[in-house]
Amino acid sequence: MDAGGCAARYRRPVPNTVPITLRDAAASDAAACAALYAPYVTGTAVSFEDVPPSDAEMARRIETYGASHAWLVAEADGVLVGYAYASPYRPRPAYRWTAETSVYLGLDAPRRTGAGRALYAALLERLTARGYRQVITGIALPNDASVGLHRALGFAEVGVERQVGWKLGAWHDLLRMQRALVPGTGAPDELR
Ligand SMILES: CC(C)(COP(=O)(O)OP(=O)(O)OC[C@H]1O[C@@H](n2cnc3c(N)ncnc32)[C@H](O)[C@@H]1OP(=O)(O)O)[C@@H](O)C(=O)NCCC(=O)NCCS
Repeated sequence: MDAGGCAARYRRPVPNTVPITLRDAAASDAAACAALYAPYVTGTAVSFEDVPPSDAEMARRIETYGASHAWLVAEADGVLVGYAYASPYRPRPAYRWTAETSVYLGLDAPRRTGAGRALYAALLERLTARGYRQVITGIALPNDASVGLHRALGFAEVGVERQVGWKLGAWHDLLRMQRALVPGTGAPDELR
């Protein structure tokens, strides 16, 4: 067998067949979300935070953003394996129909099984129903998985902020990707 054929055949791991379920997060999910997120804070530049949020701070974020935007969790066999949420893009009032989105699977959770897409698609559906118009994300580069997921969900690159994050001994660029939730340029309805 030639190397190309072998690579093609084994390119993707065997999919994890455990079904995931999605639901709204509750404050009681804070410890699991904080534990999932902490290694991204301490060991990677995926997050530009440098101190992992406490369980109490994570509970505050879940309650705040769950109420104003959405915070969803994914579970497999009753274990929290990922979450996705949205928060205000910027504080000034004219930005209020634009949300900033993010998604995390556990560092050791299986990849490429559709969990990220399921979480994110549900998040976008929820934001659309609440009246949000635009979603924007910031991706510290490089991050092929996140860029690929956002492209797959209809986001387009709108610019790169150069060397805006210093973390783990290096400067990191931030790619901005954006997607409209509804077509058109008409005046927005009030958020629900
Ligand atoms: C980004 C992340 C959520 C993707 O989750 P996932 O469950 O592995 O992704 P999915 O299986 O739902 O993939 C959906 C699509 O995204 C794209 N995609 C996912 N991983 C990719 C990769 N490594 N390279 C290129 N495209 C990728 C593909 O189009 C994929 O569809 P396909 O598998 O049918 O080709 C996950 O890798 C993760 O949690 N990464 C660490 C945290 C992170 O970087 N979060 C984003 C912060 S900005």
